[in-house]
Parts: sequence; C-alpha cells; structure tokens
Amino acid sequence: MSIIAIDGPVGSGKSTVARKLAKKAGFAYLDTGAMYRAIGWKAYITKINLTNEELDRLCAGTQLDMDLENEHLKVMIDGKDVSAEIRTPEMSRMASVVSAVASVRIHLVRMQREVGQSWAKRYGGVVIEGRDIGTVVFPDTPFKFYLDADIKERGKRRWQELQNKGINVSLDETISEVIKRDEKDQGREIDPLKKADDAMLVDTTGLSIEEVVDMILTKIRSTQ
Ligand code: DC
Repeated sequence: MSIIAIDGPVGSGKSTVARKLAKKAGFAYLDTGAMYRAIGWKAYITKINLTNEELDRLCAGTQLDMDLENEHLKVMIDGKDVSAEIRTPEMSRMASVVSAVASVRIHLVRMQREVGQSWAKRYGGVVIEGRDIGTVVFPDTPFKFYLDADIKERGKRRWQELQNKGINVSLDETISEVIKRDEKDQGREIDPLKKADDAMLVDTTGLSIEEVVDMILTKIRSTQ
C-alpha cells in the first residue's frame, strides 16, 4: 500500500502529473487543493467572517465529498457539485486565504489522512497532491516528490489553464497572481509550502508530463 506525496507551487505541474501517475500506477488520486477551494467557496457564498471560529463552525457543518470520474475530480459540497466553480481566480485567492487558518487545516488534514489511508487500502495506493503532504499530512511515507519550475513557465501554464476554461486574463496579470499566491503559501505560519528534507526535487521546466511521470515512477520502483 503506497502513499505518494506530491507537493509544489502553482503551475509546477503537480496536478497533471499526479493524475497521470495515479492512472498509470492504477492508484487513486486525491487533490487536496480542491478541498481548500471548496471550503473557500462555501465561506464566500455564505459571506461568513474569515475568523478561526467561524471557519471552524463552517468546516464542522460541511459535507465534503470527492469522486474521480473519468480522470476528472468531482467535488461536492453539501450535495452540490462545485467542481467548476472552485477553479476561478477568485476561488484561488479564497483558498489561499482560508488555507492559512488553523481550524481549516485541522479539519482538512484530518480528512486527508482518513481518505488517503482508506483509498490507499482500497486501490493499493494513492497519489496525493498539495502543499504539505510530505511535511505534515503523510510525513512517514517514503515516496515524496517536490515539483518546481521556472516562474515564467509556471505563470504560462496557469494562464493556459485559465484560457482553456474561457477565463480571460493577461499573462502578466497571471504571473503576478502566481507570485503573490506562492508568497502567501510559503510565508504562512501554519504548514507552509516547503520541500520536505527527504523529498526528491523535480524541476519540471522544459520537461513533458510523460517525462516527469516516468521519472517519478522509476524512483518509486527503486525505493520499493
Ligand atoms: O493546488 P491549488 O491551487 O488548487 O490549491 C489552492 C490553495 O490551497 C493554495 O493556494 C494553497 C492551499 N493548499 C494548502 O494550503 N495545502 C494543501 N495541501 C493544498 C492546497
């Protein structure tokens, strides 16, 4: 039963790589960023104050479900499918804000451990992507990867992703949003984005998805 942790900043390629890797290995896939986005979405819709207490209540009273359908992650909040709504630039900002709040992390880290363990048992393995998977959520797993890339390339990937969804923003605007979000994710007090000491660093600049997936699979097989 393998738990594969994939961490990294925005546009490092971790979502696409994690999804393809899970498919190739026959493992489940868990996108923890989607969970922070879903809580951010509910906080936005219900217009609560973004305090530790109010977010604690919100998390405790929320039913969050995730399902993988044909390689697409379906995210349901209190029975409503929010998969598309959580992907806007506004929800990226909301996710980054709520993810810095202690009560939110306590709820979601607990859920990620439960879901991760249960899916790993059911499927023989799970690929989990986020910011703190190798450092906080599953620090004991021997399979840890930290993906990174040149800022220009990361900004371009994020911009392309938004374009594909019909969201019209400029490349420069996207690059400065990416820089801002990274600073926030790396600079927060609780569980900041950082490479675990024992994680393998993969610079994905100029590499294809397949090359990165194969590099990671080779490393996993040599570790087993
Ligand atoms: O991976 P993403 O862009 O969907 O993540 C959205 C935000 O959630 C990101 O700005 C940081 C936060 N996040 C986190 O703090 N910890 C995780 N394990 C995953 C995401």
